[in-house]
Amino acid sequence: MLRVIVLGAAAGGGLPQWNCACTTCRAAREGNLVVPQTQSSIAVSADGVRWVVVNASPDIRQQFAATQALQPVKGPRSSPLSSVLLTNADVDHIAGLLSLRESQAFTLYATGRVLRVLEGNAVFNVLARNHVERRALRLDEVQPVVDARGGDTSVRIEPFAIPGKIALWLENPEAFGLGGVPEDTIGLAIGAAGSSNRLFYLPSCSGLPDTIKARLSTRDSLLFDGTTFTEDEMISSGTGHKTASRMGHLPMSGAKGAVAQWEGVSLRRKVFIHINNTNPVLLPDSPERAFIQKSGWEIAHDGMEFLIE
Ligand code: MLT
Ligand code: MN
Ligand code: ZN
Repeated sequence: MLRVIVLGAAAGGGLPQWNCACTTCRAAREGNLVVPQTQSSIAVSADGVRWVVVNASPDIRQQFAATQALQPVKGPRSSPLSSVLLTNADVDHIAGLLSLRESQAFTLYATGRVLRVLEGNAVFNVLARNHVERRALRLDEVQPVVDARGGDTSVRIEPFAIPGKIALWLENPEAFGLGGVPEDTIGLAIGAAGSSNRLFYLPSCSGLPDTIKARLSTRDSLLFDGTTFTEDEMISSGTGHKTASRMGHLPMSGAKGAVAQWEGVSLRRKVFIHINNTNPVLLPDSPERAFIQKSGWEIAHDGMEFLIE
């Protein structure tokens, strides 16, 4: 059995975002209709003792403080954190690594390409190699997640390439298209040793070929990229000039959106995560929220917990 805790449900910027006065950010500041959310990350555990965090959000300090399971219990220094896994090199998924310094041993998993990005930035040397061992993920292979002593956490992962884009901060303005290569963005099938039921975690995904959908069985659960509701949301809300596709995300709605594309794929649970603060599904009484619920989807929130049995 795998325990899953949503540490952060928001997309990059969080909710409210520091410089945003969109309807949802204002509602989150007022604090009655909309609950603030931190940037996307989940924690999973197969033994309830050792925890694997997937994506290290800039809000990780706050997320650890808010999560009982992640508190140190053995003195004088310790942490239930055994490993960190990265699904890409976006700021909202790697900046939290800098807060995990303090000579704590854990393993750090990412694709070879994302590990090289970290390697190329000397600031990540705050995670000294004698404490934090880097391990390259092998795509399309089920592999155990091990802790800093090489002990099996009983968490099993299968990483696989998904359509996405190079991290925003690595974009070459001269380059054509999204600039992504297969190791830039991955999805993860996560389970506990001995169980065939898995959680699929895809917080960033720019397209859904049938080969991805074919990986899931009816007993699996899905946490999927829910950045925007519409393709032109940033433009129509006056908060940006890029479409969802240009940002490397699939909108929820529309003929080619996530709801339509996952329609007909029967799963235990379909949950949106990495939700941008402009997304009207965050407003409890919105027609967009009603549409999502009617479509059989849930909206993740900070602190949401579930079991993959
Ligand atoms: C994204 O998901 O598109 C990125 O987090 C954007 C960013 O780096 O701000
Ligand atoms: Mn993001
Ligand atoms: Zn906003």
